[in-house]
Amino acid sequence: VPSGALVIPPLSAAPVLTEGASTFFSLIVPTYNERKNIEQLVQRLCYLLDGGIPGAYELIIVDDNSPDGTWQIALELMAQYPQLRVMRRVEEKGLSTAVIRGWQVAKGDVLGVIDGDLQHPPELLLKLWQEIAGGADLAIASRHVEGGGVSQWSIIRRFLSRGAQLLGLVICPEVIGRVSDPMTGYFLVRRTCIANKTMNPLGYKILIEVLGRGKIRWIAEVGYVFQERQHGESKVTGKQYIEYIQHLIRLRFSLWPIGRFFRFAIVGFSGVFVDMIVLYLLSDPSTLGWGLTRSKIIASELAIVNNFLWNDIWTFGDISQHQPGKRQRLKRFLKFNIICLAGLILNVLVLNLLFNVFGFKYLPYGRYLANLIAIVIVTFWNFWINFKLSWRV
Ligand code: GDD
Ligand code: MN
Repeated sequence: VPSGALVIPPLSAAPVLTEGASTFFSLIVPTYNERKNIEQLVQRLCYLLDGGIPGAYELIIVDDNSPDGTWQIALELMAQYPQLRVMRRVEEKGLSTAVIRGWQVAKGDVLGVIDGDLQHPPELLLKLWQEIAGGADLAIASRHVEGGGVSQWSIIRRFLSRGAQLLGLVICPEVIGRVSDPMTGYFLVRRTCIANKTMNPLGYKILIEVLGRGKIRWIAEVGYVFQERQHGESKVTGKQYIEYIQHLIRLRFSLWPIGRFFRFAIVGFSGVFVDMIVLYLLSDPSTLGWGLTRSKIIASELAIVNNFLWNDIWTFGDISQHQPGKRQRLKRFLKFNIICLAGLILNVLVLNLLFNVFGFKYLPYGRYLANLIAIVIVTFWNFWINFKLSWRV
């Protein structure tokens, strides 16, 4: 059982292939108390894969020391199925780390995962394999595309599953939004797309870790109906839902471009100075003494111009250098301007909400605290929307 960092080695560093076999496909089966399901699953998988795919394959059952002795049955099955390998983990536990530990010892250049309880129909594997053979980097079994579905799930379970997906779209849209069924635990992925990447999964959702950290370009989806369990029961508890949220937040921060955001915030800070100085020069009685609103609008606009120039050269310079020319730059400036003006409106809204609705008016310096919080929120908004729209890669 491997230990240490959850990093899948490149094929060159993978365990030596058995003589002559050019193992192509390694399928991980994570199990916990699946003694009544595992033999039928192994039998159906080997029947399918023998001759069903070119090249060789291996099944790796990763069992977390199941109290029902699943690992013992798996060991006995090895005599009958030579392509079967068994990993019995005694210390580490958990579905997603079980899958990665299995991939760490795998020999194939196509890695896969399927549940060990026959709820993922083994027969779908050949279709998933064909998608990979056709060039896809990732082929997922999805309940939410044509031909997909869940058997007799309760409304609650359907609601929880869809709710979790919606939450994921809010926290990590660029990950969760890439597939129709990010919760699926049934998929194949090319080793090259995830090799040498440190995985940091939590709980059940191994696919969002693969999508978040892997270099995945082409994704194929195949519809399937999630089957009813014949034996045993689901190990999903409230804990998995909490871990899912923690996983999303952890992914969010690790995918958040910290350095770029830091530069954007410094530029924004310089804009505050420009805004203040221009406001003083235009509206102070000792200078031009213009009206406050007119002065504020000009000061804000000049601050936006200042911020755009610095962001275009420094914060997003690595992107804008690939979008040369006055026209492109003007386009970026107009987008930046509109987003920042929308940010200004958001700023005023949040300030009023905090001050008048959430009681900041009763706090000492409540208006300035509310304004500071509003500015921080708008900075995240301005950064993320500009990153995705004005300086889109
Ligand atoms: N090694 C190991 N360690 N395996 C585990 C563990 C664990 O801690 N917990 C569960 N498993 C195994 C189970 O034995 C089963 O083979 C598989 O992981 C799925 O566990 P279930 O408890 O049956 O999950 P589910 O059926 O509610 O949900 C599954 O299907 C969904 C749709 O694809 C999971 O795969 C979900 O992640 C998935 O979203
Ligand atoms: Mn299940």
